[in-house]
Amino acid sequence: MAILKIARMGHPILRVRAQEVTDPRGPQVQKLVDDMLETMIDADGRGLAATQVHVPLRVVIFQVPPEDDDEVDVPMTILVNPVIEQLTEEVEYDWEACLSVPELIGLVPRCPKIRYRGTAPDGTEVDRVAEGFHARVVQHECDHLDGFLYPQRMDDMSLLVFREEMRNGIPDEARRLMGDDDAE
Ligand code: NI
Repeated sequence: MAILKIARMGHPILRVRAQEVTDPRGPQVQKLVDDMLETMIDADGRGLAATQVHVPLRVVIFQVPPEDDDEVDVPMTILVNPVIEQLTEEVEYDWEACLSVPELIGLVPRCPKIRYRGTAPDGTEVDRVAEGFHARVVQHECDHLDGFLYPQRMDDMSLLVFREEMRNGIPDEARRLMGDDDAE
């Protein structure tokens, strides 16, 4: 296993549409996934796409621990050739961060309910319905495979901010978009 270098916003690999994997159970995919897991854990990330470690293949890993969303506990999931289907026209706003966009966070509109499918590296098929933060993480990671970073999904760039600047409170506009009734 090895810790891989993570591409940062501006590197051309992050704009590439990754290619489908022809053999999800092949030894190259196993090695890639092992290295991605080690890299994500080392960087304390919630998800990682292969393009972020300079490999243009359709592979993502993610997890949603209970501290991120008290409604779900999604174990470490590895998806090869993932496909997403939006299950509602609704939009929800919440903060996202990305290992390729260090120190920043942004308020991103996403579909709050999706179905996603893909192949695990052992060849089994994954088919899940996801809501909330779980749905958000999957959309964020799969976007990487199409060459999109979360700032490209934002509709108010004034809400792309340094995480450190938010320690004294988040902007009222962000609270309003997140549905906080107490926001002015
Ligand atoms: Ni990311």
